[in-house]
Amino acid sequence: MQSDQPKSILWLLTAVLLFLLILLVGIKEYSTSGDFDAAGETLWSDEEVALLRSLALSIGNKPRSFEQQTNEFASSPAAAAFGHHLFFDTDLSHSGATACASCHHPDKAFTDGLVHPPTHLQPAPRNTPTLVGAAHSPWQFWDGRSDSLWSQALEALESPLDHGMPRAEVIQLIKEKYRDEYEALFGMLPASDDRAAIDRAFTNVGKAIGAYVAKLEPAPGRFDRYVAGLVGSLDSDAPAERLTKTEIAGLKLFISDEKGQCVSCHNGPLFTNNDFKSINVPDFSGSDHGRLAGAEQVLRNTFNCFGEFSDSEEEGCGDLIYIKQNDPELTAAFKVPTLRNLSLTAPYMHSGLFPRLADVLRYYNHPLQRAGDHLDIAPLDMFPHELEQLEAFLMTLDGGINVDPKWLQPPENGRQQLSSSGISLATQVRPQRPESPQVAVISSQH
Ligand code: HEC
Ligand code: HEC
Repeated sequence: MQSDQPKSILWLLTAVLLFLLILLVGIKEYSTSGDFDAAGETLWSDEEVALLRSLALSIGNKPRSFEQQTNEFASSPAAAAFGHHLFFDTDLSHSGATACASCHHPDKAFTDGLVHPPTHLQPAPRNTPTLVGAAHSPWQFWDGRSDSLWSQALEALESPLDHGMPRAEVIQLIKEKYRDEYEALFGMLPASDDRAAIDRAFTNVGKAIGAYVAKLEPAPGRFDRYVAGLVGSLDSDAPAERLTKTEIAGLKLFISDEKGQCVSCHNGPLFTNNDFKSINVPDFSGSDHGRLAGAEQVLRNTFNCFGEFSDSEEEGCGDLIYIKQNDPELTAAFKVPTLRNLSLTAPYMHSGLFPRLADVLRYYNHPLQRAGDHLDIAPLDMFPHELEQLEAFLMTLDGGINVDPKWLQPPENGRQQLSSSGISLATQVRPQRPESPQVAVISSQH
């Protein structure tokens, strides 16, 4: 018995040593690679690096702002400050209960998280899009029926589905509440019986709101810092960002010509080509014609780039001049949305049909195909782990909003505003609906 003791101590020691050795090797392996790529540069061809560069924010990539083209107040700080007040003011609605911020919450990247906005029941209920980066799109709304932020705001103000406030009432409120702010920017307010002057004043109100919304720029995310490191444009003291192996694999799929082909539509620093495409996502009404109707509407809109209230010459309106219309491919085509800040903007798609990003990717794997439908995508047929890689990559695009935080709060000396973040009031106005049964059907199909 006694002679066994030193032997077992020896065994124990060997086991402990072996364990320590394995641990050491493990730590070394993890620290050099782990789930991280070791040497980013060798992972990408020159062509791929050029493509990644074109997708990254803030590496000499200044996406164009379309608001400046037709709104001469687009970069005026005073106009943005006035627009900031209007954006959060519930008095700017027929009911006295709705502000822009009731549906566009700053802490959800200016979306509302609702599956089915109750005020958008007719003719086609649509999901509230993010406003972050919206100034970089030549078209507003899912069907692009508006070609600037200011004309979009005018529609939201008058539409019975949103603020429901006719323009004469809007100007009356401005007289009572915002005379000084208005007149300092735009001159005298009009008499209440001068309809032409009221139209002009109404567009000025839209231009102030447009100047505020145009400030909501996306901030770079981990992806952008990774690419900055790759092309050597990081500030010398900033640490290089590393992406995990899973995220890199997702990025490879995203830009691949054969597999994901996502970049064919989701490209540029906002991850959109600003075009309208049909990917056949079902909607609640079943009759949403999307861009086919939107293209006609924007051409008829008195507040478009061609119109008398636009600050652009007609020849500057290239997007309207070369607009594609009357093409059957535009039926049920919708604006290619930005993919920045996706973790804050669920549910997804024009109808808000998908509550989770995984549902969106499962849809891309097996999109709905009905005889006679025009479809701009092919089924991905990816493995579940590849869909997870894509999702992990998409999350690296989240960077939040690149603006002084004061613009994300209701203005300080506003008279009647939403309570601090705007959220509690919004939930009173627009209660969360239970998910539509259709959502469950679609997500369980795949
Ligand atoms: C009742 C909820 C609601 C209110 C109030 C509201 N919106 Fe919206 N907003 C939406 C919905 C829903 C859409 C998409 C509608 C569509 O595409 O037909 C939208 C679309 C937009 C867009 C287009 C973004 C894009 O990428 O296409 C902008 C910009 C916008 N809203 C700004 C505003 C402003 C400014 C106000 C206040 C004047 C406002 N909204 C008030 C719900 C609302
Ligand atoms: C043919 C153009 C096209 C291609 C290719 C494409 N998309 Fe899209 N994507 C769209 C359009 C259009 C929408 C909006 C459709 C709708 O709302 O009905 C969209 C919506 C999305 C959304 C929802 C965003 C939101 O805020 O609602 C995500 C996420 C997305 N796409 C990711 C991808 C990924 C990942 C790929 C590659 C596997 C991809 N897309 C390929 C056109 C495209």
